Amino acid sequence: MPLFDNHGRVINYVRIAVTDRCNLRCFYCMPEKGIQYVPKDDLLTYEELIRLSRLFVSLGVEKIRITGGEPFVRRDMMEFLRSLSQMEGLKQIHITTNGTTTEPLVPELKALGIHSVNLSLDTLDPARFFQITRRDVFPEVMNTFHALIRHGIPTKINAVVMEGKNIEDILPLVELAREHPVSVRFIEEMPFNGEGRLTLDQFWNHRRILDHIRARFPEIEKVPDPPHSTSYNYRIPGFQGNIGLIAAYSRTFCGTCNRIRLTPQGTLKTCLYDDGVFNIKNLMRAGATDEQLTESLVQALNHRAKDGWEAEKNRNFGLPISESMSTIGG
Ligand code: GTP
Ligand code: 5AD
Ligand code: SF4
Repeated sequence: MPLFDNHGRVINYVRIAVTDRCNLRCFYCMPEKGIQYVPKDDLLTYEELIRLSRLFVSLGVEKIRITGGEPFVRRDMMEFLRSLSQMEGLKQIHITTNGTTTEPLVPELKALGIHSVNLSLDTLDPARFFQITRRDVFPEVMNTFHALIRHGIPTKINAVVMEGKNIEDILPLVELAREHPVSVRFIEEMPFNGEGRLTLDQFWNHRRILDHIRARFPEIEKVPDPPHSTSYNYRIPGFQGNIGLIAAYSRTFCGTCNRIRLTPQGTLKTCLYDDGVFNIKNLMRAGATDEQLTESLVQALNHRAKDGWEAEKNRNFGLPISESMSTIGG
């Protein structure tokens, strides 16, 4: 029996942020200094994550995406993925990673049947990579990219588009899809940067990004979007891969949203833009049974905001939004 929310949307996709730690400092996500990481005791343990995943699967969840922070900075991550990949009923496991340490793991990810990997990469220029991420590890990320393609793991590139930072990278990133079977997705910047700063007057929305690409590639054409897609998808004739635009700030895809999120501390979020519905880890540690956990979950889904605008308006603490994406997982 699949789960539905109060707006009739099926919920069959859970995004689990396994850590808030990261070895990069992408300026759109985290401040350079002064980050307070979650104490280790406050993180959901792998045992708790497996229990919850099993529960979600029994309630109709088919797809789990592992995010962070950077998931691979958490110790024993591969062991966790091994257990998850053996879970009966779980159809798809996906990972979003910054790719800095992923290359050696790619063969095993392939062997485990990981469905796809989304790789954060905002530029193909090493100097700008350093400016954006504040770390000098561009070659490592490119090695991961090539390893993923070589092993035939479906790969998407995530590039956040930012005035004054990487506009000159849009067309080179598009070019990546010419020679490689990769989906290159351009993402509207959101205010989840740990500071609340976002200069909307210089904002690149999905239409502006598309116009920019179309000026160089007038032959770009729309292709059908998969169900529940966050991206509007396009192809350029002769290219192996395709191009996507994610209206993450404009929030145009909420009507088909099938996802819920768990933060590293175990807070359930029924929308990226809400500030958390309840803490499922605390319930578990207080001895809740699976039935009680299910009941709380169903309650939460019965009170889900209709879209990201409503979720933002209903936030209890904290407007404007200022939490770091590393505490949510995107
Ligand atoms: P799949 O649909 O599973 O391929 O993944 P995705 O594209 O949603 O996931 P990914 O982790 O690669 O995120 C790409 C971008 O989409 C990030 O900037 C996310 O923050 C954004 N995003 C993902 N889910 C949502 C959502 O529910 N709402 C909004 N507004 N943005 C989202
Ligand atoms: N705005 C838009 N996307 C963001 N991401 C991280 N922070 C932001 C932000 N402020 C993206 C990263 C990563 C994905 C999970 O979220 O590019 O690929
Ligand atoms: Fe790390 Fe991802 Fe945040 Fe960049 S966007 S600092 S890679 S968690």
